[in-house]
Amino acid sequence: MKRVITYGTFDMLHYGHINLLRRAKELGDYLVVALSTDKFNLEKKNKKCFFSYEQRKLLLESIRFVDLVIPEEDWEQKKSDMHLYRIDTFVIGDDWKGKFDFLKDEGVEVVYLERTPEISTTQIKQDLKNK
Ligand code: CTP
Repeated sequence: MKRVITYGTFDMLHYGHINLLRRAKELGDYLVVALSTDKFNLEKKNKKCFFSYEQRKLLLESIRFVDLVIPEEDWEQKKSDMHLYRIDTFVIGDDWKGKFDFLKDEGVEVVYLERTPEISTTQIKQDLKNK
């Protein structure tokens, strides 16, 4: 069984996220999503989420491409996650291109997928504000 992992905040889930998750799942048989916790978002990523961790987790768990949701609590956990979850492929959007190549040293394939154009959580928030 080929196991794939991706990381992210996935706040106010939108079709760009679904596209990413669908293509990630197509790369293997089992998809793990490491979901950034509220604390990690606030303190390390400078993001204040609209939906709480538990709400975002519930949404992700309801998507058929997602098999398991785990917490992402710090930048450093990726290396050990690769072994803990016996990952074959690490995948993320190409806004992170090159940033996680070091994971190849852990024996995983690293894939950057093209982002869906025009949509992002930040953009949705901005558009709603300007309405
Ligand atoms: N993603 C994507 N296409 C988009 C938006 C996001 O492929 N249009 C991917 C990102 O590249 C990442 C994952 O979805 O791999 C989670 O991204 P996240 O940062 O949570 O979503 P954004 O909508 O980009 O949120 P923000 O605007 O807060 O950065």
